Amino acid sequence: MQDKNKTNVAVFVSGSGSNLQAIIDAKIEPANLAVVLSNKHDAYAIERAKKHKISVEIVNHKDFETREGFEKEIIKRLDKYGIELIVLAGFMRVLTPYFVGKFKNRIINLHPALLPSFPGMHAAKQALDYGVKYAGCTVHFVDECVDTGAIIIQAVVPVENDDTEDTLLEKIHKEEHRIYPEAVKLFCEHRLHIEGRRVFIRS
Ligand code: GRF
Repeated sequence: MQDKNKTNVAVFVSGSGSNLQAIIDAKIEPANLAVVLSNKHDAYAIERAKKHKISVEIVNHKDFETREGFEKEIIKRLDKYGIELIVLAGFMRVLTPYFVGKFKNRIINLHPALLPSFPGMHAAKQALDYGVKYAGCTVHFVDECVDTGAIIIQAVVPVENDDTEDTLLEKIHKEEHRIYPEAVKLFCEHRLHIEGRRVFIRS
């Protein structure tokens, strides 16, 4: 049911959905988790959504010849939910400027590195191979490019000598599950204020 005091949120997924789970578990008071949208019919995240009685929409990108066609269908599906915030949680499609423009400053993403270091795929491996002493994760607004939008929250984890990609990712995921719900909450409380590249958190 829609509640006009709450922010209607769509979570976009493609895979396991552990961050979706963290957002569900956080029971963010000012957020209404209106819909989970997946581009993959077998994403485990869909099970998590169904278990919590959240509506699910599946739009397979392979059914469309162009990215714009795919995105137009997404926009059509979202229409009935009155979405105010889109949360990308392991959504493995790059959104075009067309889509980003429709939801300007209303799409957030989570990246498993301390941006602007290590954008793109396999960020934890990139960090480990580079030899950094600290890694982490970043929640940011989505702009027209990949992993470049204004930064909302970051969390840092130390890299130990015996870390592998898996152990480092485990530490990063733990922080992701803490900061992503926090960022969603701040957005829904209307406490995020963007000035150029800087995001200020109002108290
Ligand atoms: C996370 O590590 C996030 O940083 C990246 O995709 C992963 C999604 O994991 N963007 P999950 O599907 O939420 O478990």
